Amino acid sequence: MCGLVGYIGKNLSRAPIIKGLSRLEYRGYDSAGFACLNPGDNRLVYVKAQGQLHNLIKQFDQKPIDGHIGIGHTRWSTHGVASQENAHPQFDCYKTLSIAHNGIIENHHMLKEQLMQEGHLFSSQTDTEIVAHLLESLLQIHKKLLPALISLVNQLQGAYALVIILQAYPDQMVVIRKGSPLCIGIGQQEMFVSSDLLAFADITNKVLFLPDQSFALLGKELLELYDFSGAPLLPSIQEVDSAWINVDKNGYEHFMLKEIYEQKGAIYASLAFFRSISHQIWDQVGLTSEQVKNLESIHFLGCGTSWHAARIAQFFFEKICLMPARVMLASEFRYMPFFAEKNSAYIAISQSGETADTLEALRLVNSMHIANIALTNVASSTAVREADGFLLTHAGQEIAVASTKAFATQLAALYWFAHRIALEKGIINLYQFETAQEDILIAAEALENSIEKYKKIIVETYAPYYAQYKKFIFLGRHISYPFAMEAALKLKEISYLFAQCYPAGELKHGPIALIDAETPIFLFSSLDSLVYQKLLSNAQEVKARKGHLVVFAFEGQKELIQLADACFIIPTVNPLLAPLAMTGLMQFFVYHIAKVLDCPIDKPRNLAKSVTVE
Ligand code: AGP
Repeated sequence: MCGLVGYIGKNLSRAPIIKGLSRLEYRGYDSAGFACLNPGDNRLVYVKAQGQLHNLIKQFDQKPIDGHIGIGHTRWSTHGVASQENAHPQFDCYKTLSIAHNGIIENHHMLKEQLMQEGHLFSSQTDTEIVAHLLESLLQIHKKLLPALISLVNQLQGAYALVIILQAYPDQMVVIRKGSPLCIGIGQQEMFVSSDLLAFADITNKVLFLPDQSFALLGKELLELYDFSGAPLLPSIQEVDSAWINVDKNGYEHFMLKEIYEQKGAIYASLAFFRSISHQIWDQVGLTSEQVKNLESIHFLGCGTSWHAARIAQFFFEKICLMPARVMLASEFRYMPFFAEKNSAYIAISQSGETADTLEALRLVNSMHIANIALTNVASSTAVREADGFLLTHAGQEIAVASTKAFATQLAALYWFAHRIALEKGIINLYQFETAQEDILIAAEALENSIEKYKKIIVETYAPYYAQYKKFIFLGRHISYPFAMEAALKLKEISYLFAQCYPAGELKHGPIALIDAETPIFLFSSLDSLVYQKLLSNAQEVKARKGHLVVFAFEGQKELIQLADACFIIPTVNPLLAPLAMTGLMQFFVYHIAKVLDCPIDKPRNLAKSVTVE
């Protein structure tokens, strides 16, 4: 959430910072800013703009500032509207120091009051500006940077990543991390700072992921790391594999469309990886074979699309591993009573591995010493570093805010993992395990083939037609209910159309009153024969009230197909993989509705790819 980039070194900072910000724009895009120290006189200069990064870039025509030390930011507002004043960087009273920030300073009210009483003048509504004034005040008291920083970090509450430049210290950049991600790229006589290594992955692969609750002083060849008490820490610099980072659209109009088409390949790549680690899997996920054999329950944590993947996986684990599976929204989990269970494990699901709600939930489980695993797409993420063990999907970089291939690979991973646990427990044999792996590939084929089959009619007929409606009801039942929730989320976030999802059996308990000619009903079928019969009754209830029915059905489901006003017929797969088979077509359809409506599909309003605030 928010893109943060800093540079100090032998070269000028503006070009690498703007390039880095453009790669991070998916993290926030309601305003942007750049500040640097003017070479020669070390004067702090800056440019800020409301809106997307290109608005900032335009301003350099009038004000072509640059310097060897600089910071940049793209914002996703938390405190204060999106405006030029509230854009980062923020400053102290005399604009001698400048700060870019990700996260939230939770005690900003109290600090602001105190600073105003001391005479500080504020020019924005942001919590970030408080940090600038507080540091200004602490520098006056302590006279030196290090003690001022120690005092600063001990007064700030919340989760934050901060990058600071100061006129008084032109050869040093300050970076601070508590909770929010921050990494430093080490180059040849230059240092890069960012909230995501994507910003500088093409320049250096030597990275320091700043430990939580630490800060660093950086120079072109300087890296001093401290904990919050001021004790020096030994930096642990890693070499990361950035080969998988691809930030081009490869000819597609949007990243979302490219990522929809990448799904079959991503599932194949993920499965190939799982096969390759199948023998060492327990080391990787941080469990012993004995622990797995004794597992009596499994718990999932996640947000948004990752939570939907967990809700679908609940069916996998209960059916395949024959044990109860529970799913919690990570944002709720911390505030609910916690009943520790014996022989249990938690799986935190997060595409980015940086979602604050999920990380906090994971930390809570960790603090109780209960086995936990991060299922994520980003090997260098905080979730991987903090969990007992991890399982990586191989979807490749997902840039569009709306998650597509990450969701598909999460489903494939969870289906595979449920079978791997069942194999270890002796519930299934090797042949059944092999069959399950083949079933994933069959579902990946179905996912891609159904897009191809309906591509033309969606683009030419269905998308323009359904884009005329303002509200939708989405229905599913059993395993297709969480899938219908994911479909409704996808439509809402990229097209801004209202979509309400219900379990189909609940229709008659109230929502049936909503059926009218203005509200198409999208119904997602199931391959479980009993559930299918029940869904059929629900579809009949809709038609009996002259509802308009759009059906995602499977081959052979004649009765349901006949009831539909519009219908997509998907090849049959293993019933538990029905959601995976429907994934591509559902995403492709809602993508084209949003396209007809001319929405900014890759960067929908108010959203950001990685939600690093609670
Ligand atoms: C998905 O389309 C969303 N943009 C969002 O719900 C996302 O899945 C959620 O914020 C969780 O992100 P994560 O998987 O990176 O933790």
